[in-house]
Amino acid sequence: MEGKSVPPKGTWTIERHIMLQEKAHPDASGDFTQLLMDIALAGKIISREVNKAGLVEILGLTGETNVQGEQVQKLDDYANHTILSILDRSGRVCILGTEENSEPIRILPPYEAGNYAVSLDPLDGSSNIDANVSVGTIFSIHRKVSKGPRGEDEDLLQKGNKQLAAGYIIYGSSTMMVYSTGNGVHGFTLDPSVGEFLLSHPDIRIPKRGSVYSVNEGNSLFWSKGITEYIHYLKQRDEQSGRPYSSRYIGSLVSDFHRNLLHGGIFLYPADFKDPNKTQGKLRLLYEAAPMAFIVEHAGGYASDGRQNILDIEATELHQRTPLIVGSYEDVKECEKFIAEYDNDKLDVKEKKK
Ligand code: AHG
Ligand code: MN
Ligand code: MN
Repeated sequence: MEGKSVPPKGTWTIERHIMLQEKAHPDASGDFTQLLMDIALAGKIISREVNKAGLVEILGLTGETNVQGEQVQKLDDYANHTILSILDRSGRVCILGTEENSEPIRILPPYEAGNYAVSLDPLDGSSNIDANVSVGTIFSIHRKVSKGPRGEDEDLLQKGNKQLAAGYIIYGSSTMMVYSTGNGVHGFTLDPSVGEFLLSHPDIRIPKRGSVYSVNEGNSLFWSKGITEYIHYLKQRDEQSGRPYSSRYIGSLVSDFHRNLLHGGIFLYPADFKDPNKTQGKLRLLYEAAPMAFIVEHAGGYASDGRQNILDIEATELHQRTPLIVGSYEDVKECEKFIAEYDNDKLDVKEKKK
């Protein structure tokens, strides 16, 4: 952040921070700033519902299943509709891609199409919401690249390294918005009494190496050899490198990621051969892996699919999945070494099943 002189806590709102960052881009139209503020507004509204979820009839399932074949929680729907209704008529967005809609949402007349494409996980970790586990909203912003007046799929299907901004809002013991526009990673905590996100975590940097690993061990019999050997390695004693690591798994990507971002560590959702839908991992590239990869990279960490930087992966369809290994730089690079050593490039489900 300019000048490193961190402003007095309790007065530096996310709006002031975003506008200060906009000053660094003289050609900025103000639309990008307003788009980030629209997302912050959606976060405040969703936070209000999440925090009273136990009291009002908004927990539980809608009875529908989404394109992923997953049961849709009422709060998934609520979060999705809240964000879409704020963004779709703002005039700042040309197309929206969200986990809860099978097709991209192009902004058509009478609404004006703007210069930005937004991919969203409206509510991440929602299967945990009834158990009062922290959940979150994840967003990714690309610049419109298509030639026509309206948004096209190609505006969403861009590589993660083309993102203009990415972030998440985590609805936990407090509600926080963490975002990056490529100029550091900054965390803001919602003060409900004033309704503002106030700067609480300026210039977040993830430790180069952590002492925590985060993976669903229930899938371990279906991992590749490289992942199996790597997790086994983390459990062996070695004072020098701080092993054995501790295991922490919340089952909500935003929560597991946020803990590791602040304290260091590695999160893995690898390909697993239990489920034909998960041979490319469970998590989605455009609205889970790529935004987290953008954030972690701008905090000094790294995100890989096991063989390449997540940010270099070409997106070909909205709900495309990818294995995700993300967190402290040295830990993720070390995991890649195990995959290079044990998993040949041609390994796929068929071979695995023999
Ligand atoms: P979502 O609620 O948006 O579908 O995402 C859930 C994801 C992610 O939050 C978490 O890391 C992962 O599902 C947990 O999956 P498992 O329960 O299979 O471990
Ligand atoms: Mn999710
Ligand atoms: Mn979700």
